Amino acid sequence: MRIVLGIETSCDDTGIAIYDGERGLLAHQLYSQTTVHQPFGGVVPELAARDHIQKILPLLQQTLRQANLDKRSIEGIAYTAGPGLLGALLVGAAVGRSLGWAWNIPTLGIHHMEGHLLAPLLDEPKPPFPFIALLVSGGHTQLIDVNGIGQYQLLGQTLDDAVGEAFDKSAKLLGLGYPGGPALAQLAARGNPKRFCFPRPMLHKGELDFSFSGLKTCVLRTWQTCQQTDQDRADIACAFQAAAVDILVHKCQRALAQTHRQRLVVAGGVSANQRLRDTLHTQLGAQGYTTFFPRTAFCTDNGAMIAYAGYLRLQAGQRDTTEICARARWDLQELSEIPCA
Ligand code: KG4
Ligand code: ZN
Repeated sequence: MRIVLGIETSCDDTGIAIYDGERGLLAHQLYSQTTVHQPFGGVVPELAARDHIQKILPLLQQTLRQANLDKRSIEGIAYTAGPGLLGALLVGAAVGRSLGWAWNIPTLGIHHMEGHLLAPLLDEPKPPFPFIALLVSGGHTQLIDVNGIGQYQLLGQTLDDAVGEAFDKSAKLLGLGYPGGPALAQLAARGNPKRFCFPRPMLHKGELDFSFSGLKTCVLRTWQTCQQTDQDRADIACAFQAAAVDILVHKCQRALAQTHRQRLVVAGGVSANQRLRDTLHTQLGAQGYTTFFPRTAFCTDNGAMIAYAGYLRLQAGQRDTTEICARARWDLQELSEIPCA
């Protein structure tokens, strides 16, 4: 098994990629549904599924062209089987399974968060195992002790909103629309960091769980009680981002100290946040830790991470059963171990 096609359709991005075990990533294409969901202020699951159906096959053709490959070169297919929006997942799963059947090659359903977790391994220098992973996306905020592929121990997670969700909801409260996280981050850069200071919940004791819903409430209260000028908006964005990053950095430090690990891997949409990247790099670097991030294009959802995770698992001999596998919820710790590549 050398050349694997990866399909990602768990939410509002259609991602297709081809990974070659010898030559690395050959091609990746992404279609973002932003304009479809923008008028609604958030992702509409039914529209997401319908749009994946429309875009997936043309995007596949485009990816094959980019890789300069004929479809007969594909030896295995990996698709995101969960967690995510069920209707959206089913599009990728049905297309992946059908192509596998038609082309007579094996397929495998991949855990979306394992895709994120392994995305930093697509580039050099690859983080060696073991490491601590901070997974920060629109649906997850988790700290995981990673001993190898499929060896994941959950150390802590959010008790309410995921940090990406908090970015998005705060952005919406400030009238920044959808998708809000990157817009809020951009605005924060223009804010006065000395004006507001938002609380950092759950920093006490040895806790590794997170809570972000209070921060969102703080954004709302502050916004409602000020003049609502452009500068107010930027200053609130700045205070929100500073608090969110501070919480994440503290918990990462704590997880590294408690487990005596030396390396931190950060992945998922929020790992695109420049302030988070810079702060982790500087603060943890000063303490002798090494931090790893995916390249920016592979922080948010993409097909490359699914092709890569699929390559590793298909290469190890894993295959789909006869059922179509799509799960809205799926615990990362249920995944099976595979020997180190
Ligand atoms: O991993 P992802 O693309 O999808 C999920 O699996 O959820 O993550 C999307 C999340 C969104 O909440 C988005 O607002 C957030 O990542 N995000 C950011 C940035 N870029 C994306 N949050 C903060 N700063 C960014 N630059
Ligand atoms: Zn994701």
